[in-house]
Amino acid sequence: MTDHSSNIGNVLLTEEQIQNKVKELGQRITQDYQGKRPLLVGVLKGAFIFMADLLREIDLDCEVDFMAVSSYGAATRSSGVVRIIKDLDIDLQGKDVIIVEDIIDSGLTLSYLRKNLQARNPDSLEICAIFIKEGLQKANEPVKYEGFHIPPDFVIGYGLDAAEKYRGLKYLAQYVQE
Ligand code: IMP
Ligand code: MG
Repeated sequence: MTDHSSNIGNVLLTEEQIQNKVKELGQRITQDYQGKRPLLVGVLKGAFIFMADLLREIDLDCEVDFMAVSSYGAATRSSGVVRIIKDLDIDLQGKDVIIVEDIIDSGLTLSYLRKNLQARNPDSLEICAIFIKEGLQKANEPVKYEGFHIPPDFVIGYGLDAAEKYRGLKYLAQYVQE
């Protein structure tokens, strides 16, 4: 395997810290959705690892679906332009939807998604995000299930990439530009 370690900076959150938080979020969702069957909507690609871990910490019969949106391309700054690359397969009418996001940076992706999904008439719509960057939100979305607040640096690991690399790291680290 190629050694990309030169781009991996300080570890911000360890595997254990992340897993404990995911368990906690899963327990809260389990309590809040008793008697319901929540539909988890994962935002690809970054959320796929969090989504897989979260799903297995929710002690309810969940449905899952994915959306792919793009706001970045290969750059490390948000352009504010959100493009739907893959839409949902499931009709949201009557569903209790939880948007599962990897990271909230500007919040523009989420702001767009919330409006877009709300317009499809779900019974309820909440947001669950594992990482939230401090002080960068241009659009303020109420996030009911929050993981960690992190400094506003570019980060990699736990599903998050830099030009498609490092998604498989089990921890969250700062990205070091060469
Ligand atoms: P926002 O629209 O600015 O909130 O950007 C959200 C999306 O950009 C996230 O869902 C990620 O896919 C990506 N993103 C934002 N910050 C980072 C980062 O530090 N590392 C990797 N991807 C990021
Ligand atoms: Mg994303």
